[in-house]
This record gives sequence, structure tokens and C-alpha cells, in this order.
Amino acid sequence: MVDTVLLLEWAELALRWLHVITAVAWIGSSFYFIALDLGLRRPGTLPDGVAGEQWQVHGGGFYHLQKYSVAPAALPERLIWFKWESYSTWLSGFALLILVYYVGAEFYLIDHARRPLSPTFAIIISSGSLGVGWLVYDRLCRSALGRHDTALMVTLFVLLTAAGWAYTELFTGRAALLHLGALTATFMSANVFLVIIPKQKIVVRELKAGRAPDPALGKQAKQRSTHNNYLTLPVIFLMLSNHYPLVFATPYNWLMASLVFLMGVAIRHFFNSIHAGRGRPWWTWLVTASLFALIIKLSSLPPAADADGKLPSTAVRHLQADGFEDVQITLLMRCVMCHGDHAAWPGLNSAAHSVKLDTPERIAAQARAVYLHAGVSQAMPPGNRTYMTAAERAGIVTWYRAAAPAAGAP
Ligand code: HEC
Repeated sequence: MVDTVLLLEWAELALRWLHVITAVAWIGSSFYFIALDLGLRRPGTLPDGVAGEQWQVHGGGFYHLQKYSVAPAALPERLIWFKWESYSTWLSGFALLILVYYVGAEFYLIDHARRPLSPTFAIIISSGSLGVGWLVYDRLCRSALGRHDTALMVTLFVLLTAAGWAYTELFTGRAALLHLGALTATFMSANVFLVIIPKQKIVVRELKAGRAPDPALGKQAKQRSTHNNYLTLPVIFLMLSNHYPLVFATPYNWLMASLVFLMGVAIRHFFNSIHAGRGRPWWTWLVTASLFALIIKLSSLPPAADADGKLPSTAVRHLQADGFEDVQITLLMRCVMCHGDHAAWPGLNSAAHSVKLDTPERIAAQARAVYLHAGVSQAMPPGNRTYMTAAERAGIVTWYRAAAPAAGAP
């Protein structure tokens, strides 16, 4: 029998691998060009139209780069474009969103206790929000506000904070922060796809036609590219955040996410200043550290009400299928000392990783994770500290395989 849960798990790993690789390529080239751009120098004699140059040494060779402020007089024969790094990052990310949050909508996307959306509706909101969000952002940049870089950035910050809050109202905390990251990354990729590259193409077309391109084209592209620069670090944080319940599963997750955007700007400002030869603004690290301390504090504040997730009754019923009682006893003996409201393991003062396995509903909510971490793999208990037996693991596997398909679990 082909086990779909295992196949999905491997597909997820493969996609995640691809996504990280493409993101490394995109962010790497983007960081490189920002540093290059800021670090250009203007010695006495430069060829016509050249705005600055830089010498670099890498991998045993010397490189001499020159930047033309608008475009060279004639188009070179071979021109390297940088666009697929961005496109493939967005595409692989969206595929991962589908695999994790759409296929697993019942478990990861929908917050049954607070907002029991139907999977179809939740998925429409999820993908629709990315498109609508982009339209709003793009309009803002093109509006009169777009002429004031700082005011535009402040508005963008307010917009992203509001989006983060709205996502936490609609989805699970885990999905909410991921969606905020995906929305921001959509702005960034669409900036490349719909603004930066098309404007470059116009410049190339003008050159081919023997006309001098309009310098305003480069300016608009530059504004979007500056946004991308400041949004990169927060996006990476948000993408990683779904592995940390302290960030996503605490009540002020949206506020923490909004502070992360400010941290990203502060850190980028430090590096941008160095690359531009404007000194080292060490104060940015003080700002970053203070914001981080505030985030840590926020993560420790108690919830206003009990925000425990509940599964739809059908899922609970099915996950309590044959063998569930044995599994419950196994988890009680091997897991609950670390995964309960009153975790008793030395050094733990709350449930490890915020995973709680002390009630049937909580076990049902974690069924897939239990199956993967303690059934098919031996990741849990850590180092088998509670001496779980092979027969107990087999019991989990048999129960989950029998119960999950009926419950509509991924
Ligand atoms: C000695 C304490 C301890 C015991 C016992 C224990 N766990 Fe954990 N568990 C942890 C810690 C610590 C983490 C977080 C670190 C990690 O993921 O490795 C964790 C994480 C998890 C996660 C989340 C993994 C992820 O990456 O999302 C699951 C699921 C889990 N445990 C299930 C179980 C199950 C099922 C059992 C019993 C069969 C069990 N654990 C027993 C300490 C424990």
C-alpha cells in the first residue's frame, strides 16, 4: 500500500528544499547587487554614461564592474537577466502553500475554535488575499503617495500590520504568520515580474530602436527594488516562524510580526550604510535588540481567554477510532510528562513545543504529528527518554492509518 501521508511528507521536503535553494539564489543575488550599487565609486575618468564602478576580487580573479546610470549607448550582444531566481522562489513557495495549508486546510489553515470556515472558503480567502493585497500595494506606489518614499514606507508598514492582524483573525496563528510572509513575498516577486523587469524591457526596446530611454523608468524600478531590500529579512523570519509555537501560537503574534518588519529595516540600514561608505550606525543594533526583547516579552503574555484549538466533531470521532484507547494510554505513559498542561519533566515549565497530548481532542488535533514523530519515525520521545516500545509505535501506526482517511485527514 502506498502511504499518502508518507508521500506527502516527502513531497513537502522536496518542495521545501527547492524553495530554500531558489530563495538563497534570489536573496543572494539581490544582496549582492544592493551592496554593489551602494558601493559604486566615481574616480576622475569614467566612460560616457557610466555612473560608477567597482573593483572586486573573488575566486582567484579580478572583476571590474561599471554601472550605466540609464543605459549604454548601444545594447551589448549578450545580456544576463536576473528574474528566474525570484519567479521560481514564488512558484515553489506557492506550491508549498498548497501542499501544506490547502491539502492540510483542516489542520493547519482553519482555526475551528475561533472561525470554522469551510476549507474551500478558507482557500479562496488565502489565495485571494495575495492578489488583492498586491493590487492595493501597487496602487499605493503609483498614487501621489508614491512620490514620497518615506511616507510610502510608513503606509506600507501600517498595511502589513493590518494584514497580519486580519490573518490572525481568519486563520490559525501558524497559517496567519505564514500568509503575512507570503503576502510580503508576493509584493516582492510581483515587483520583479510586473514592474522591474517590464521597465527594463522597455529600456532595451528603446535602445534597439535607437532612442534614448526615459530615466524615470529606472527610478520607478529603483523604488520597488528598495522595498524588496527592506522586506527580505522579515519575510525570512515569518517563513521560519511556523516552526516556533512561541511566535505563532501566542496571542500577540500579529504584533510580534509587525515588530519584525521594524527589525528588518534596522538591520538592513546598518548594512546599507556600510556598503555606501556612510559609516557604521551601531545604534541600529540597539534598536534591533530592544525590538527583539519586546517580542520575547510579548510571547510570554498570557492569552485573554483559553484559545485551545478544537477539531470538527467528525474528525474527533474518526480519530477516536479503533485502537485509540491504547494510543491514549501510550501517550499518557510516554509523552504527557512533557506534553501536557502541567509538564512535569525537569526543566520544562510548559508543554514542550506547545504540543499537548493530554486530552482526546488535543491528541486528535496532533494525530498526524504523533504518527510522524512517534509512529513511523523515532523522533519522539527525544532519545527515547521514556522507553517507548516498538509495539507501542506499531499501535500508533495501525490506529492512524485506519482512522485518518475516514476523518479526511491529510
Ligand atoms: C522528555 C520530554 C519529551 C517527551 C517524553 C516527549 N516529547 Fe515530544 N517534544 C519534546 C521537546 C523538547 C520538543 C521540541 C523539540 C523538538 O521538536 O525536538 C518536542 C516536540 C514534539 C512534537 C513537535 C515536533 C515538531 O517539530 O513539530 C511532537 C509532535 C511531539 N513532540 C510528540 C511527542 C510524542 C507523540 C511523544 C510520546 C510518544 C513525545 N513527544 C514525548 C519533549 C518530549
